[in-house]
Amino acid sequence: KKRVAILISGRGSNMVSLIEAARAPDYPAEIVLVLANRPDAAGLTRAQAAGIPARAIDHKGFADRASFDAALQAELEGAGIELIVLAGFMRILTDAFVEAWAGRMINIHPSLLPLFKGTHTHARALEAGMRLHGCTVHYVVPELDAGPIVAQAAVPVLPGDDAETLAARVIVQEHRLYPAALALIAGGGAALDGGRVRLAEAERDPGAAL
Ligand code: GAR
Repeated sequence: KKRVAILISGRGSNMVSLIEAARAPDYPAEIVLVLANRPDAAGLTRAQAAGIPARAIDHKGFADRASFDAALQAELEGAGIELIVLAGFMRILTDAFVEAWAGRMINIHPSLLPLFKGTHTHARALEAGMRLHGCTVHYVVPELDAGPIVAQAAVPVLPGDDAETLAARVIVQEHRLYPAALALIAGGGAALDGGRVRLAEAERDPGAAL
């Protein structure tokens, strides 16, 4: 099994769905560490309750991004981590860190990339008059939310939606998509190859449910 660390900044609902999926005996990854850049991240308590070692590395205690990332790197190496999963991790990582983990770090973003990179994705999808919205799992590259796409799930935008109701519809799909995408990668069904995602012959996007 691949040794996985999950990085969070907040409530950690995606983290919980990954921890639960990884309990299945045949799941190809094990969640061995949870790290947060904020000591008040609610997900830390939830990880500990699930029996996963979890701790904060408070970014405020570091002079710059490079020294924070070095502390992160030391923790990850100490735990023998092979894959990093960003789950609501709201801190920009240095190019050097991202490049050191190229092909071994994924993120989930609450939009159908390449639309709506950055924050406030649900409000922006509504503002743009989208009829479909969703979430994307992608490899992390230095450019924000621009990495090769592993899997996506779409939801309808319904009359009367506000950012909150739309977010609630998307997060249900996030909780389904992320464990499926991690299984695909950890099990060798998808890999980064020359800057593109190569799916194994038998695989399809686990999110495509339309
Ligand atoms: C999720 O919707 C995730 O897609 C988003 O933050 C939320 C975290 O929720 N991530 C980003 O916006 C990354 N830029 P969670 O802590 O309950 O998993």
